[in-house]
Amino acid sequence: MRSAARCGLRWAASLLAPLALLACALPAATDRTPGVPAQAQRGGGPAPQGVVSVSHPLAAEAGAQMLEAGGNAIDAAAAIQFALNVVEPQASGIGGGGFMMIHLAATGETFVVDSRERAPAAATPDMFAPGGVPLPFAVASTSGLAVGVPGTLAGVATALRNWGTMSLARTLAPAIELAERGFRVNRFLAADIAADGGRTSLQPETAAIFRPGGAPLAEGDWLRQPELAKTFRLIAARGPDVFYRGEIAAAIVEAQKRSRTTPAAAGVGRMTLADLDAYRVAIRQPLVGRYRGVTVVGMPPPSSGGLALLQMLAMLERFPIGDVRQGFGFGAPNTLHAMVEAMRLAFADRAVWMGDEDFVPVPKRGLLHPSYVASRAQRIDLARRMAAPAAGDPLPFDGGASKGPLRETAIAADAQEGAHTTHFSVVDRWGNVVAYTSTIENTWGSGITVPGYGFLLNNELTDFNFLPVRDPATGNPGANDVAPFKRPRSSMAPTMLFKDGRPFAAFGSPGGPTIINTVLNVTLNLIDHNMTIEQAIDAPRVSVTSAAGTVSCEGPAPLHTPRIPLAAQDHLRALGHPGLGALGTDGCTATIGSVQAVIIDLQTGRQYGGADWRREGTVIALPRLRPGRGA
Ligand code: GLY
Repeated sequence: MRSAARCGLRWAASLLAPLALLACALPAATDRTPGVPAQAQRGGGPAPQGVVSVSHPLAAEAGAQMLEAGGNAIDAAAAIQFALNVVEPQASGIGGGGFMMIHLAATGETFVVDSRERAPAAATPDMFAPGGVPLPFAVASTSGLAVGVPGTLAGVATALRNWGTMSLARTLAPAIELAERGFRVNRFLAADIAADGGRTSLQPETAAIFRPGGAPLAEGDWLRQPELAKTFRLIAARGPDVFYRGEIAAAIVEAQKRSRTTPAAAGVGRMTLADLDAYRVAIRQPLVGRYRGVTVVGMPPPSSGGLALLQMLAMLERFPIGDVRQGFGFGAPNTLHAMVEAMRLAFADRAVWMGDEDFVPVPKRGLLHPSYVASRAQRIDLARRMAAPAAGDPLPFDGGASKGPLRETAIAADAQEGAHTTHFSVVDRWGNVVAYTSTIENTWGSGITVPGYGFLLNNELTDFNFLPVRDPATGNPGANDVAPFKRPRSSMAPTMLFKDGRPFAAFGSPGGPTIINTVLNVTLNLIDHNMTIEQAIDAPRVSVTSAAGTVSCEGPAPLHTPRIPLAAQDHLRALGHPGLGALGTDGCTATIGSVQAVIIDLQTGRQYGGADWRREGTVIALPRLRPGRGA
C-alpha cells in the first residue's frame, strides 16, 4: 500500500524541505487523533525518538536499545523477536513463523514480510486424518507431523537486509546475553509451565529447561538457556544459512521425527533438509479498507485476519456503534449483539473461502465487495439472533460465476487453534512503523525442543483442516486443506490505521482465531468509542469464533473497565447467544488476547504506546525521562 498523499512523506519531507509540509492537509486543531492519551502533551518537550510496546519488559528493552543506538524500527523488531524467543519462549521464536507489517516513512509504502511456516513437500491432505478419522488434536499437535518449516529467522533476516540498518549479529546480541546470563521467570511464563497440558514434560530436552530436576520453574526462578545462546551465536557468526542448510537444519529434521508416543500414534514429521533449503519468505501487499473515514490496513492471505476484520468492520459501519443516544455505545446490548453477529458471519466465510492464495484462489474482492458485504450484513437483526449462518457466495462479486449455495456439510469445522502467539509494535524517530505478530502456534508449540540447540519447534500445521473438505460438487474449494509447501491459514492480524495517508496506530494480538475479534474490539474502541489506546486495550472484549460457536467475554471489573453490564449479558442470553451461563450471573469471565500498540499523534507528531496487562506488556518511549523528572 502506498500512501495517497504527500503527507505520507511527512518525516522525510520535514527534514529535507520543510515547506513540503504545507502541502499536507493537516487535521484541524479539534480533529483529535484516535487513541492519543488524554494527558498527552500538546507540544514541547524533546522530539520523539521512538516507542516500543512488547509483551515482556526485557524484550522491550532489547528493542529500545536498538533505537537508542540509532537503529530503525526494523532493527528494533529484529532484536525484540530474538529476545522474545528467550523470555517468552512458549509463544514465539525461530522454530515458528509470523507476519511483520512494515510502514516505511520515506516512501509511504506499507507491506508484509510473510514468514509463515510451510508444509513439507511430503505433506498430504489426509495426513491429520489417516483412514478418514481425524487424529485427536493433543496427539497430532505434539507430533513432529505438525511441525511446519520454520520461517521466523528467514523473515527477520530478510527484513533487516532490505529495510534495516543493523547486522543480524547486532540485533541478536541482547538475546544472546539474556539466554546466557539468564532472567527471572515472570508470572505468565510460570503459569504457562504450570498449565502446559503436559507439553513441557513430553520431551526430555524441553523438560530439562522448564522443569529442571522434575520441578516446574516458578515465578522468580532464574532461567538460563545456554544452548539457545549457542544457537544464536552460531547464527550471528554464520547467518541464516546455518539454520536452513547447515547443522541446525540437520538437527531440526531429526527432532521432528519425535512424537509424544512410541511407536508414534500420529506418525512423525515429514520435513527434509530439502524443505528447509527451499523455504522462502514472501513479501505481500496488505489489504486496505475504510471504516468511518479511517483507512484500515490489514493482513492478507494466508491469514484470514485482514479479510475477516475488514468484513466485520464493513458490516458494522451501518450501525451507530459509538452513539449512546441511538441505543449503542460501549457495552450496550445492541453493540454487543451486532458485533457477535458480524463475527459469526465473517467466521462462516472464513471457514470456506480463506486460505493460502498461493495455492487456492481466495475471492478477496468478492468477500470485501460492498454489495456482497451488504447482503451479509442485512442478516443482522437487532431483535433476534440469526440461525447459524453458512458461508456466503462471494464469487459473483469477484468476477466469477456462482457455483450455487454451499451445502452445510461442506463447511470445514475449525481445527482447534492455540491461544498463544505474541504481538509487538514499534515506531522509530523517522516514523517507520512495525506491527509484528509471531507464533509457534500452541503455547509451547509441538513441545519438541531441538536437541542441543535449545529452541522449540512449532505445531503450525495443525492450523490446516484436519479433514480435507475440497469438493467440486458442493463448491467448497478446500482453501485450508493441507498441500505440499502450502502455508496453513492463520488468524494473525497485525493492523495499522491511517488518516490522510499517515499511520496513527499499529497493533495486533495473540489468541488463535480470537485474534481477529480482539483487533476488532480495539478498533471499535478507538474509532467509535473515542477511547485512548490504554482504555481501548484495558476494556473487556467479546468474541465468538464460528457461526455456531459460544460467545465469550471478559470480566469481571475492576480489571476490565468499563465492565460488560449484567443487563447487556442478559440481553444476549435472551436473544439466544450461548456461552454466557445463567441469567443474572456474570458470564464474562474470559481473558482474550494481549494487545501491544503504538500511537502517533497526527497533530503533534508525538508518539505513544499502549500495552496489555493480560501479559507483562511494557511500553518504552524514547528519549527516556531521567529519574526525578516526571513519569
Ligand atoms: N497459530 C496462530 C495463527 O496463526 O493464527
